[in-house]
Amino acid sequence: MSETIILRIENLHTFFYARSKQAFVRAVEGVDLEIMQGETLGVLGESGSGKTITALSVMGLVSTEPGVISGKIEFSSKGLQQNLLQDLDQYVQHQRKNGRIMAVQKDCGGWQRKTERLMGDIRGKEIAMIFQNPQSSLNPFVTVGKQITEAVQLNTEIKNSREAQQRALHWLERVKIDSPRLRYHNHPYGLSGGMCQRVMIAMALAAEPSLLIADEPTTGLDATIQAKVVELLMELKAVLNTTTMLISHDMEVIGRLSDRVAVMYGGRVMESGSVQEILRSKDGSNHPYTTALLGCIPEEKHIKDKITLQAIEGDVIDTMNIPGGCRFYPRCNQKNDRINQSCKEHEPALKEISPGHWVRCWLYYDE
Ligand SMILES: Nc1ncnc2c1ncn2[C@@H]1O[C@H](COP(=O)(O)OP(=O)(O)OP(=O)(O)O)[C@@H](O)[C@H]1O
Ligand code: SF4
Ligand SMILES: [Mg+2]
Repeated sequence: MSETIILRIENLHTFFYARSKQAFVRAVEGVDLEIMQGETLGVLGESGSGKTITALSVMGLVSTEPGVISGKIEFSSKGLQQNLLQDLDQYVQHQRKNGRIMAVQKDCGGWQRKTERLMGDIRGKEIAMIFQNPQSSLNPFVTVGKQITEAVQLNTEIKNSREAQQRALHWLERVKIDSPRLRYHNHPYGLSGGMCQRVMIAMALAAEPSLLIADEPTTGLDATIQAKVVELLMELKAVLNTTTMLISHDMEVIGRLSDRVAVMYGGRVMESGSVQEILRSKDGSNHPYTTALLGCIPEEKHIKDKITLQAIEGDVIDTMNIPGGCRFYPRCNQKNDRINQSCKEHEPALKEISPGHWVRCWLYYDE
């Protein structure tokens, strides 16, 4: 893995306005993430923690108002470095109170036009994305072969249709579709969910992107097919070394495919570090939320003895109503008398507890 940073997200804020409640859904609130060339960053978190919205913000695909409102998304590719949110702040004004964004005025049309100018040559070409529902992401009226061929022509130097067809076949073989020459002429409805996901992966990789974002690539597939898609992704990772942001709430998938992991909760990164530090920590140095997530993984003995699994107590945070202190406070079972007041009133910053291992928790502060 190289030391080149492909994607650096800084202090990203993406909100939605809930008109009926006259309040903001703080889907992403101050996210910082980095992905190095050749690495797979796993982004883990319960449903609603802001994983997909972070990815869609990078792709410039948040269309609902007000959407992305501030931050920096630096993308480096082919020797060029650019901020994907460059000059977009001129279309947004927000008022803050006690460090919180309370009101936003946004020229959505201007924002949209500028985003399309910034992202036109990047989306699908330099950054490709695989979505959760492969069947609904493919065009039902066009054969899968033709769709991949078009992706090759649109996103690479190969424009000649015969060469592009050959390249599409190559990708169908690469993702181990059985009888690729036959499948080339199938429409998506003629393929199983697992096969459609392989086609989606082929289509994303056919663009030869600098960054691949895979959002829940195995969710919705049945267990045996899930395992096969994970195996395929592992093989592709070993061969192609594609820089990847892998989003999942499945810790096994994250554990098998990631080099580093970021754990999100309530629109924020609560912990990040190497996959060993986050998922296989020997000394238990983890954020209480990560520890609680790890407690939800069924162990063999649980399955054998039918012991009830520990679920994280309490509900996922309501992002319209985020408490003033630590956002995990209501569900945390590790707060103690020493830090309780801080936990309740002040949100901790991320602290580097060992090189490259960051935790957002008062337990790791001395005072
Ligand atoms: N268009 C929208 N309008 C209003 N709220 C939205 C919109 N899209 C997402 N949200 C809210 O933003 C928050 C983060 O959503 P996001 O889809 O990023 O979660 P996630 O971590 O990807 O969850 P999952 O694991 O279920 O996919 C959620 O509270 C969600 O309800
Ligand atoms: S800061 Fe306090 S409430 Fe938050 S996770 Fe740490 S111990 Fe728990
Ligand atoms: Mg999601």
